[in-house]
Amino acid sequence: MTDSTLPELTERLLRENESLRAELEETNQGVLALYAELDTQAEQLRQASDLKSRFLSYMSHEFRTPLGSIRSITRLLSDEMDGPLSAEQHKQVLFISGAAAELSDMVDDLLDLAKIEAGRITISPAWFDMLDLFAALRGMFRPIVDAIAVDLIFEEPQDMPRLYTDDKKLAQILRNFISNALKFTQQGEVRVSVRPEGEREVRFAVTDTGIGIPEDLHGNLFEDFVQIDTPLQKRLRGTGLGLSLCKRFAELLGGRVGVESTPGVGSTFFVIIPLSISTEPVDGA
Ligand SMILES: Nc1ncnc2c1ncn2[C@@H]1O[C@H](COP(=O)(O)OP(=O)(O)O)[C@@H](O)[C@H]1O
Ligand SMILES: [Mg+2]
Repeated sequence: MTDSTLPELTERLLRENESLRAELEETNQGVLALYAELDTQAEQLRQASDLKSRFLSYMSHEFRTPLGSIRSITRLLSDEMDGPLSAEQHKQVLFISGAAAELSDMVDDLLDLAKIEAGRITISPAWFDMLDLFAALRGMFRPIVDAIAVDLIFEEPQDMPRLYTDDKKLAQILRNFISNALKFTQQGEVRVSVRPEGEREVRFAVTDTGIGIPEDLHGNLFEDFVQIDTPLQKRLRGTGLGLSLCKRFAELLGGRVGVESTPGVGSTFFVIIPLSISTEPVDGA
């Protein structure tokens, strides 16, 4: 017990109260300053993402036109519209058109990414048959497969129901998986299969007998611009955007992607999507 008088006690309490208030006030200001900083950072992030979208779409459009001219002129040349070419010239023109085709694939990837980031990709679902999808993919890859030592096999879908989803987006995912598989496989086969996944989903898989991917790299494969440094990679071009586009398209279809892979044995890339895409907005999204 102290022997202070009542006025002394009141005085002390008042002082303590005052200093507590000052402290609180300070903390409050600190919190406000932090909030302001967060706001600025959020704004900067938004601007950076805006800028990225605009940069990507601007660049892609600017690249498209000249690429288009290169491709049509090489076509004129190889069709010998203006006179015959020597065998060597044919080879050279083929090389130019191959490089132009590759560049325009990259530009398409960039444009897709820009569109997704800007929220400008729309989903148009329809009923369709997997046989048609596989047939279209087989046709698309025939010229490539004919020229290499790898077999591309489409397993016959067994008792699969029809799908209600955006077949263009699904085809794009599978096209990316297949072109990667062909790119990173030097011998053996690439196998495309489909099977039900539970009651309401379906799983498409592309399995190859290629170089494989070490486990510790599986985690960020589906991020933008990720490419693994392998001897094979050095000879092959690409943007490192294909898989990240696959992931984003799969999410747009209400599904997900994944990989299983063993170095030296091969890889399986898969996408699981609902049999029927819900057109209702997803809860809590
Ligand atoms: N089937 C596969 N086998 C081995 N590595 C693969 C396979 N698919 C993808 N990868 C690795 O993942 C990387 C990213 O693939 P992707 O996003 O399609 O980019 P890109 O094909 O433009 O290099 C590739 O560069 C490659 O290193
Ligand atoms: Mg790719």
